[in-house]
Amino acid sequence: MPTPHNSANKGDIAKTVLMPGDPLRAEFIAKTYLTNPVCYNKVRGMLGFTGTYKGVPVSVQGSGMGIPSIGIYSWELFNEYDVENIIRVGTAGAIADNVNLREIIIAQSASTNSNYGSQFGLPGIYAPTASWKLLSAAVKTAEAKGSVYHCGNILSSDTFYDDSDSLGKWAKMGVLAIEMESAALYMNAARAGKNALCVLTVSDCPLKGLSTTAEERQTSFREMMEIALETAVEMAE
Ligand code: HPA
Repeated sequence: MPTPHNSANKGDIAKTVLMPGDPLRAEFIAKTYLTNPVCYNKVRGMLGFTGTYKGVPVSVQGSGMGIPSIGIYSWELFNEYDVENIIRVGTAGAIADNVNLREIIIAQSASTNSNYGSQFGLPGIYAPTASWKLLSAAVKTAEAKGSVYHCGNILSSDTFYDDSDSLGKWAKMGVLAIEMESAALYMNAARAGKNALCVLTVSDCPLKGLSTTAEERQTSFREMMEIALETAVEMAE
């Protein structure tokens, strides 16, 4: 059944979905990496495609920016479309001193300044965590490829433009990088009893005032995609 945000029918979407923020990036990924990609959603321009990679059915669905947006799309994939695994692929701003431009981050956990988790009514602070089976498969692939990667805690922030000057405090707690979606994805996966992971490339270092060029982003993008796609293949085995 279609939802208010997705015109796909049950069965149109694969068990494993790659999720970039940008819907045009979803189209690029589908057309570059998948065999016979078919577009299943154009509602609000939030494109989604299903094809195969190395013979394994894989979908690619845009999430939009921020926790409310990925909260909607990932909830529907898990709960309305029987999706088992969502792998977010995106960019992040590195805040740890030892994390540099173009490197890969595999998000073991996602701290947040968002109130998204309050809906679960927990009497404490929940720690949104990646699924071990996706995390371990991604780390194995990154090792095999010889990628420069960091595995650890990230920050999913509600703000891109932020007045609080708090990034240094998160960095002091060992947080590697900032992005805007993963905590909601991890919480939705946990609540649905499903699996989620986030693989990122470092596009900028906000504390150092550095950012990558479009050309540099292409190379690290390819590395991130290969890690995510190989992880998707492992899930079918
Ligand atoms: N802040 C938030 N999200 C981001 C950033 C950032 O600096 N870089 C890439 N995604």
